[in-house]
Amino acid sequence: MSRPLVIVTRRLPDPVEQQLSALFDVRLNPTDIPSTPASLAGALREGDGVLCTVTDRLTADVLATAPRRARILANFGVGFNHVDVVAARHHGLVVTNTPDVLTDDTADLTMTLLLAAARRSGEGERLVRAGSWSGWRPTQLLGTRVTGKVLGLVGFGRIGRAVAERARLGFGMSVIAYDPSLLAAADAAPGVRRCATLAELLGASDFVSLHCPATPETRHLINASTIGQMRAHAILVNTSRGDVVDETALAVALARHDIAAAGLDVYEGEPAVDPGLLGLDNVVLLPHLGSATVETRLAMGERATANLVAYFAGQEPPDRVA
Ligand code: DGY
Repeated sequence: MSRPLVIVTRRLPDPVEQQLSALFDVRLNPTDIPSTPASLAGALREGDGVLCTVTDRLTADVLATAPRRARILANFGVGFNHVDVVAARHHGLVVTNTPDVLTDDTADLTMTLLLAAARRSGEGERLVRAGSWSGWRPTQLLGTRVTGKVLGLVGFGRIGRAVAERARLGFGMSVIAYDPSLLAAADAAPGVRRCATLAELLGASDFVSLHCPATPETRHLINASTIGQMRAHAILVNTSRGDVVDETALAVALARHDIAAAGLDVYEGEPAVDPGLLGLDNVVLLPHLGSATVETRLAMGERATANLVAYFAGQEPPDRVA
């Protein structure tokens, strides 16, 4: 009996590709060249399933490809805002993601950015590498203390909760959270106070960290006006999706020191970064590394594979989102 053909849009860790090859006919991408609308349309025409990633723009136009053989998009990642799920549903395409397995590593990277922005690690590293460090000085690169400060979480799902735990238990921070899906009556979790509005959270936080999905409602949630509600010494951290922040407004605010600093892992037009940010010392910029550990990338591969296996066995995929 012929096996389903799975088209894999990006190079994956070797054990994941080996596992996929053992289970399916696969078309891999050894050159790792990012897909184009045309190559995605080709994958939808030719494969029974497509294993895609955040770099694939699966727009309504692309998903309307006809004739189409593909019936499932197994996304290698938890965020799926790059897939037009309304169009996918309309065309009867199943979409899955890889939740849970990247929660801890993304929370760890959030703390990395928070600490790096607060303690000016990027500036310090650049100084040393440039050969410009003249030795210890009492006034050199003074940052701001993290321990004991107030951390405001925008979005209190799996990753937000994991960040709260690290911040409370590891750094003695007071944690507050704003998430419209939290019950009005209750606190967000033991030791985490719920804020009724975003403005309340922004006005009370020393650090603000974003953990909401990218949706039409959260697009540019952080903009010139909401940045204006933050405290002047506040630090913004974003490991969610670039679309949640108006990057140009953030660059202007950082240049004017309306807020103290930012730490970013994600960008509106990845891999492009707003040029206004690139020259600023008070922003730490990482290249979308949230889930980038060997352990997590293997686990994401296993999860995406499990979704494909279940689907082609006629079962409900465990992580179906559309
Ligand atoms: C995720 O899993 O959402 C990561 O950002 C990579 O897509």
